[in-house]
Amino acid sequence: MTVEVARWNGSLAEAADPLLALCRSVFDDFSDAYLLDRLPSLSDPDLWLAVEDGAWRGFKLGYRRGPHLLYSWLGGVDPSLRGQGIASELMRRQHDHAAANGYRFVETRTRAANNPMIVLNLRHGFHVAGFEIDSGGIPIVTQRKKLVAG
Ligand SMILES: CC(C)(COP(=O)(O)OP(=O)(O)OC[C@H]1O[C@@H](n2cnc3c(N)ncnc32)[C@H](O)[C@@H]1OP(=O)(O)O)[C@@H](O)C(=O)NCCC(=O)NCCS
Repeated sequence: MTVEVARWNGSLAEAADPLLALCRSVFDDFSDAYLLDRLPSLSDPDLWLAVEDGAWRGFKLGYRRGPHLLYSWLGGVDPSLRGQGIASELMRRQHDHAAANGYRFVETRTRAANNPMIVLNLRHGFHVAGFEIDSGGIPIVTQRKKLVAG
């Protein structure tokens, strides 16, 4: 069985239902409103999918936060397919596409306790750029990567 990675070319409104189903499988205790309330207001959304036999099994969703800054907001892989390089491939494709489309930086925020995501980001060239305790008392690490040399 092969997993293919591709960019979503439709609207986010069309993607909402399958994306919500995927979020529920990827994240523990996912709040539907967290996704659905924000989807309509994302500027220049950039959605990458890992698809297995037509089923959405992984994703990476970013959006524009400045003329040269892509914010990578949410992403994950179905638990049954972890550890096979799928998140790495989604990230590689996201970054290559962003660099080719004029972005110079990509930024992301992750709970400090989420070692898999923080390590994955470090392996792809992110640096730690900040630390905060969010409004819910949760420690958050900001990571940032320069996409183009110079
Ligand atoms: C983080 C996550 C996306 C990684 O997905 P994945 O497809 O299993 O990751 P990959 O197989 O591409 O791993 C790539 C690299 O990331 C790092 N990594 C991945 N999982 C890891 C783990 N459990 N512990 C430590 N490092 C890990 C490793 O460096 C790995 O490379 P290696 O296998 O050569 O050592 C996945 O665990 C996930 O979906 N987690 C839940 C969702 C989430 O937390 N998303 C982030 C917040 S939005």
